[in-house]
Amino acid sequence: MKVIAFLGSPRVDGNTELLLNEAVKAIRKMGHEVKIHKLNYMRIKPCQDCGGCDKNGVCIIDDDMAEVYQDIREADRIVLASPIFFFGVSAQAKAMVDRCQSFWCEKYLLKKKIPEGPYGRKGLLMLVGGMKKEVGIQCGDATAKAFFRTVSVPSHEVLGFLQVDAKGAILEHPTAMKDAYEAGKRLVQS
Ligand SMILES: Cc1cc2nc3c(=O)[nH]c(=O)nc-3n(C[C@H](O)[C@H](O)[C@H](O)COP(=O)(O)O)c2cc1C
Repeated sequence: MKVIAFLGSPRVDGNTELLLNEAVKAIRKMGHEVKIHKLNYMRIKPCQDCGGCDKNGVCIIDDDMAEVYQDIREADRIVLASPIFFFGVSAQAKAMVDRCQSFWCEKYLLKKKIPEGPYGRKGLLMLVGGMKKEVGIQCGDATAKAFFRTVSVPSHEVLGFLQVDAKGAILEHPTAMKDAYEAGKRLVQS
């Protein structure tokens, strides 16, 4: 199975990265390769709404999304992991998601879904927020759902943790790391 993951947090060894690493550990233990895209270090220009992809589903911007487009096309499983920033996913994650407008054109205007492989396509959303308010998870999931459906991932699991704020605080959460590991395992169980 080809598994790709997007890390939307800029904080090195932050809560999102720790959580994602735990899911990745489980996926690798199950014998699958995982390629992690650390979005904060990638050259991804925000969508310019230029209409360039309207006719053929191809984005005209030349940057690190070229590799992401290819990986999304070939993936059997996609993980999107992000901190909650201002009640949504981080700007790093959102920039990548918005650039999937080219897939939106391909799917909805050109009526071409990304073909699925023998394992189907599934997603996992991992969110971490410092506040108590559930709306961060709801809004983050709304964006993630639009992303996953656009890239022809028909279902995804949501793993969200709130009131986890200081760097590394996720390690003190009573279930988070185990939950992440189990979610990683479930993702690749057919
Ligand atoms: C710019 C910014 C905006 C934030 N906005 C929210 C928010 O709207 N809701 C929330 O629950 N936490 C918010 N937080 C807290 C982070 O989600 C929290 O610290 C999280 O653990 C960071 O994860 P990380 O260590 O993976 O970066 C915000 C933090 C920053 C830096």
